[in-house]
Amino acid sequence: MANENGYFELNTGAKMPSVGLGTWQADPGIVGNAVDVAIKAGYRHIDCARLYLNEKEIGFVLKKLFEDGVVKREDLWITSKLWCTDLAPKDVPEALDNTLQDLQIDYVDLYLIHWPARMKKGSVGFNPENLLPLDIPSTWRAMEALYDSGKARAIGVCNFSTKKLGDLLEIARVPPAVNQVECHSSWQQQKLHAFCKSKGVHLSGYSPLGSPGTRWIKSDVLRHPVLKTAAEKLGKTPAQVALRWGLQMGHSVLPKSTNEARIKENFDIFDWSISEDLFVKFSEIEQARLIRGTAYVHDTFGSYRSVEELWDGEI
Ligand code: A2P
Repeated sequence: MANENGYFELNTGAKMPSVGLGTWQADPGIVGNAVDVAIKAGYRHIDCARLYLNEKEIGFVLKKLFEDGVVKREDLWITSKLWCTDLAPKDVPEALDNTLQDLQIDYVDLYLIHWPARMKKGSVGFNPENLLPLDIPSTWRAMEALYDSGKARAIGVCNFSTKKLGDLLEIARVPPAVNQVECHSSWQQQKLHAFCKSKGVHLSGYSPLGSPGTRWIKSDVLRHPVLKTAAEKLGKTPAQVALRWGLQMGHSVLPKSTNEARIKENFDIFDWSISEDLFVKFSEIEQARLIRGTAYVHDTFGSYRSVEELWDGEI
């Protein structure tokens, strides 16, 4: 449930700030400044991951912000993610410890399985020969142990289809609090959204702007006429409309930026709203998944022979 102060309440009872700073593709040399700017602008949620190779730099800045009294640890929401190389149950606690060490904190607010895919321990990059078959239930038991230990105050998943999330809910002692997935006006995830809502799992949207800076993605999300028209009528930018649409749909949004002006722009979405007549137009936008996960699909290796299998047909 969202409220005026900008948070969603999870099934753990915790209040997750509804806008988080994304840090995927934020270079280590500039991510620190982005986090500093964001927190000073009012962000209270930083979305991190081992894969992004910048947790150490984020940790330096967090430490300084805490020492300088800019923000308290308990007022920040920090998410991180278990990378595919560490899905063997014995590797899960060490992976979180490494993240905590780099971030210089002693718990994360949310720890997520990054992809429903497994790779060889210690492997680097996306060579298909490193893909291994998956066993989510055993990994989830290890995630539950992290939750029990208090080092992860909530646990969840990323990139899970409706079916995979349903299967996990069947076996989970601690149900996932969040499913973080690609979500924007050109990939609205209607079926998954409804399922998450019915099960009390919060949907968190990554690439909420359609990742316009990613070279291998052809992204027109912010250029869509529905967004552009709404932006003109509201006197806002297409990015602000894209993010506000997410909040009004009922999911948190994780826009990435390393640019001071855009970091501030992306947070200025609380004291206005998209009116019903403009909002309904979003349902007419043609839909296409941008991040297809082809790196996890192979004829021989891993758990998926096709993109359809990875997403259980939701493509
Ligand atoms: P930059 O970091 O230079 O601001 P997403 O969060 O959907 O993955 O999108 C991130 C991409 O969108 C980055 O390339 C980022 O570039 C760019 N971006 C972030 N905020 C805005 C904005 N307000 N308007 C346009 N592009 C933006």
